[in-house]
Amino acid sequence: CGIVGIVGRRPVSQRLLDALKRLEYRGYDSAGVATISEGTLERCRAQGKLVNLEMRLKQQPLDGIIGIGHTRWATHGAPTERNAHPHIVDGIAVVHNGIIENFAELKAELEATGADFETSTDSEVVAHLLAKSRRGGMSGREAMHAMLKRLKGAFSLAILFQDEPATIMAARNGPPLVIGHGDGEMFLGSDPITLAPLTNEVTYLVDGDWAVIEKTDFRIFDSEGNVVTRPRHTSMASVDRVTKGDYDHFMQKEIYEQPEVIAGALARYIDIASNRAVQVSTELNFANASSLVISACGTAYLAGLIGKYWFERYARLSVEIDVASEFRYRDIPLSPHAAALFISQSGETADTLASMRYCKAQGLKVGAVVNASESTIAREADVIFPILAGPEIGVASTKAFTCQLAVLAALAISAGKARGTITEDEERQLVMSLIEMPRIMRQVLRNIRPKIKLLSRELSGYSHALFLGRGTSFPLAMEGALKLKEISYIHAEGYAAGELKHGPIALVDENMPVIIIAPHDRFFDKTVSNMQEVAARGGRVILLTDESGATRSKLDTIHTIVLPDVEEIIAPIIFSLPLQLLAYYVAVTKGTDVDQPRNLAKSVTVE
Ligand code: G6P
Repeated sequence: CGIVGIVGRRPVSQRLLDALKRLEYRGYDSAGVATISEGTLERCRAQGKLVNLEMRLKQQPLDGIIGIGHTRWATHGAPTERNAHPHIVDGIAVVHNGIIENFAELKAELEATGADFETSTDSEVVAHLLAKSRRGGMSGREAMHAMLKRLKGAFSLAILFQDEPATIMAARNGPPLVIGHGDGEMFLGSDPITLAPLTNEVTYLVDGDWAVIEKTDFRIFDSEGNVVTRPRHTSMASVDRVTKGDYDHFMQKEIYEQPEVIAGALARYIDIASNRAVQVSTELNFANASSLVISACGTAYLAGLIGKYWFERYARLSVEIDVASEFRYRDIPLSPHAAALFISQSGETADTLASMRYCKAQGLKVGAVVNASESTIAREADVIFPILAGPEIGVASTKAFTCQLAVLAALAISAGKARGTITEDEERQLVMSLIEMPRIMRQVLRNIRPKIKLLSRELSGYSHALFLGRGTSFPLAMEGALKLKEISYIHAEGYAAGELKHGPIALVDENMPVIIIAPHDRFFDKTVSNMQEVAARGGRVILLTDESGATRSKLDTIHTIVLPDVEEIIAPIIFSLPLQLLAYYVAVTKGTDVDQPRNLAKSVTVE
């Protein structure tokens, strides 16, 4: 899931490990480093967390002033030490991110000519392909070029040749890779944050590029082997803010910093002095768009789903939305007059990027709602809408989700204004609600914790949970369920409350807690009827509502979490807070790894 490399003037092993720590937030299940010391390749690998690798390195230090490192999120082959990277074959060490789709075919071919595979990974074929070419007399560079022509799929690679001990070779076709320029040293990393304390001067490799990196120099080649130049950037990435401070977990810190970061994000999209939405993008041409296309993955997709309700209601734009892994292959008839938005915290999610490229190729103007402003999605979009959440380290997204929502709400208002579908008065009302939001969020975060903690103790004893809501509370129910399952491993489903009777009600008994999200909006009475249906069957009802809702829903069998009355447009953001805290405290009660839940990755650069 992360790559690092250093061609240095001084020992690299500790610095490789430190860089891997900066990649930790992406999620991984094993790690390793390799260096060349006195002409010999050496490696150290460990299953599990980086502390295991660190301990190994203490027992068995690696010397050398050149090296590569890797954190692995298993795709092919279990997350064991044997399958951990670097893979070494005949003095060639390889680390790989992504998936080599034709690996089975390549492996069969290599085995037929005598190659002996040690692992069950797809990545090992790269080392064998290179070794075979080297045995045939090719130089490292020639072997790289020949090997890359054989690979299908998405990959980024860093490679060391024992007999070329002053060079790292790298290649990118999918997952990002940047070269860092140091003082008499060169670096390689999956993103600028990996390299932040080492250098801010970076050159991004473009898909199809490969590079030969030396201490003071590098050359980049395209897939044909021609030398190409890529621009050098000064990255703004910084590691300064990425500490937990007084909090127990990054996720907790990120939940509590939401009022502050949302206020910052909103300032970019609304004019606080006049209570008007800022005219954000002529590029996407919301005013004349025939419809809006939205695609994203995971939590970002659920933010998009809430956005759909807003764009349809306030801008009268019909919205086509799907998860990016489906969207990219659906062969959707797209009008070139549609506008398109892609939502991604990391800006690197492979499926979202592919969906965006697909729309671009169909002639649509594409906008990216992103957090990582230097990411591939940000760089390739026609227009970017930064969510300004700051680095999000917890794998389970919290502040990025609410910032995505805040930006989507502001964009929907701006689109409504451009299309003349809301009056100036309505615009002011909506914008005033957004301005109010950070204050209300602070108040909610202050007040609900004791009640949520109590509830989480009870919830942690169950194996399943249902989340229900109508309108924008429906996608929010799915997000509440997603948060709970991601970090507490409790099986949870989010459903449209009206769908309850069409299936999930069969699951309801005294072992099924049902979390009902019901602000006192136009759906309230209907949602309360669904709540009664659950209560009548012995289900354990937990009602999230507001003050008006609480006075109207007297049911003594239930837990009620009461939030302040808020305008409808900001309700999904305000109601996110108890859901995030609930998942967080259930996970803490269960003692799971809150910031790096098992099997999950923060940035998914494979399909
Ligand atoms: C991963 C993360 C999720 C995230 C999704 C999309 O699955 O674990 O938290 O929502 O990817 O990521 P993106 O960076 O595109 O928002």
